[in-house]
Amino acid sequence: MTELSSKISSQDVPSMGRRQFMNLLTFGTATGVALGALYPVANYFMPLRTGGSGGGTSAKDELGNPITKTGWLSDHQPGDRSLVQGLKGDPTYIIVQNDGAISNFGLNAICTHLGCVVPWDSGANKFICPCHGSQYDTNGAVVRGPAPLSLALAHVDIEDDSVLVKQWNETDFRTNEKPWWA
Ligand code: FES
Repeated sequence: MTELSSKISSQDVPSMGRRQFMNLLTFGTATGVALGALYPVANYFMPLRTGGSGGGTSAKDELGNPITKTGWLSDHQPGDRSLVQGLKGDPTYIIVQNDGAISNFGLNAICTHLGCVVPWDSGANKFICPCHGSQYDTNGAVVRGPAPLSLALAHVDIEDDSVLVKQWNETDFRTNEKPWWA
């Protein structure tokens, strides 16, 4: 070992090691925090597992937990339209009908204009997109542009108290046309 390399190994390397270790620790901590913060977000967009004997996807709440009919109806009143994670993790409205039952169809909340998530405005009794003002009626049919199409439908089935979301391939009952999303 030369005198120079001996100097490096005895002085610089340990200090670099400490610095790298501290960098790693800082990075690791920051990464851990970031990943922890991102987990619910990432989970929100993850494809969902199927459930139930008849296929379909378990509707999940914002924490990623499958919802049940009983639990949902204990928190959501008739007329309610609230979001769950639906097919492919898409934000999907579950509708509680006026008779207190969960509707057999849900609405994909992605605006058909440029893809903003459209909130339900219970005061106006419409879905109103905050991005460019498109409006959809209580069943998600477009009533004001610039959105060109109604919100996509999904089947909502109850199996053993589980709430399952399934692809809607049949005629769109709002337009009597083939579904644009299928
Ligand atoms: S994205 Fe909804 S109106 Fe433009």
